[in-house]
Amino acid sequence: MISLTKSTFYNDVDTAQKLSSFVLSAKQLSFGEQCNKFEEQFAQYQGRKHCVLMNSGSSANLALIQALRNIGKIKLNDTIGFSAVTWSTNVMPIIQLGLAAVPIDIELDTLNISPQTIRKVLETTSLKAIFLTHLLGFCDDLQGIRELCAQEKILLIEDTCEALGSVYHGNKLGNFGIASTFSFYVGHHLSTIEGGAVCTDDDELATMLRIVRAHGWDRNLPSAEQSAIRQQHSLNSIFESRYTFYDLGFNLRPTEITGYLGTIQLPYIHEIIQKRNQNFIRLAPAIYEQTDKYYPLHYDHIDLVSNFAIPIVCRTRKQRDLLVSACNERIEIRPIVGGNIASQPFFCKYVPEFSQSFKNSNASIIHDQGLYFGNNPLLTEIELQELHQVFAG
Ligand SMILES: Cc1ncc(COP(=O)(O)O)c(C=O)c1O
Repeated sequence: MISLTKSTFYNDVDTAQKLSSFVLSAKQLSFGEQCNKFEEQFAQYQGRKHCVLMNSGSSANLALIQALRNIGKIKLNDTIGFSAVTWSTNVMPIIQLGLAAVPIDIELDTLNISPQTIRKVLETTSLKAIFLTHLLGFCDDLQGIRELCAQEKILLIEDTCEALGSVYHGNKLGNFGIASTFSFYVGHHLSTIEGGAVCTDDDELATMLRIVRAHGWDRNLPSAEQSAIRQQHSLNSIFESRYTFYDLGFNLRPTEITGYLGTIQLPYIHEIIQKRNQNFIRLAPAIYEQTDKYYPLHYDHIDLVSNFAIPIVCRTRKQRDLLVSACNERIEIRPIVGGNIASQPFFCKYVPEFSQSFKNSNASIIHDQGLYFGNNPLLTEIELQELHQVFAG
């Protein structure tokens, strides 16, 4: 069986040994210096001023929307567009935090929203922000999306949980909006078992993300910012500051285990991405160009595709069902993420008006006719040949 995930970490045994020694010798395992260290390293890797580490990618999404609400960049009942094909916890925080979640259809050949699909929504609905998902390492015309957002005064935020390391026009995905989220869940590009982060260049947003991450207090802010917020609230007592809660938050803190794992996995990230990219480049032409059984996918505009799974969209549902049977007990496969999110039970329950009014016909094709298989950096030559035979033979 070719499984989606082959190991918890890259360089599994060595990492597990280092982790055991770390746990045995660590003085502190709750949030501390290892988390701070990984934040600095990841911000540098991504090319962003700030990285705020969280306990999952879902938490990163939740914290980001809450932080934008707290600093007033998004207000109650504002309308937020999201990629119709995405993960549940990209959309759920939008609904949970009192905002209107509007699906934007994707393009079949990039699996991503485009300036055209955004314009289609803008014909009937104005958008305050767009929470764009770079699905499975791909993107559409991001430059065009950025220009459109600037023109229409739409705040752009990026869910990069499936695209860490993809490069478009010389810049990593996750560097095109005010902030971007990442997941470090097992099987994603970089594993800390569970984990996630928000990256941004915006100082105010980064400070608020740290407040949102932990109870609404100032405990994990740099000291200059602690002084500023205490002064702003006329708080002169260090004792009282310990339990002063400035704004709405959660407890989404990672542990030192997350931080430590991040610091020892990050040095492998180029190797991981390179191996996955090589697998993708080897299989993609046979899947997307040499057969008419599937919809072709275009990725020439992307400098480097970094994905952890390879999607296939069949021309018919029957074809997809045949592939599902062919993979049985042979290759582990999944639907393409959440498919058309607007047709998921939670969305129909909480946003019935938009689940009906936006058609998302391409997202529906992905839902009914798509699947993905794992693109693991440890895939062997024999496994690559088997994948080729099943999907492109
Ligand atoms: C696009 C997207 N956003 C968010 C998440 C949530 O990340 P996590 O599993 O770390 O909570 C995922 C998970 O796979 C995802 O694919």
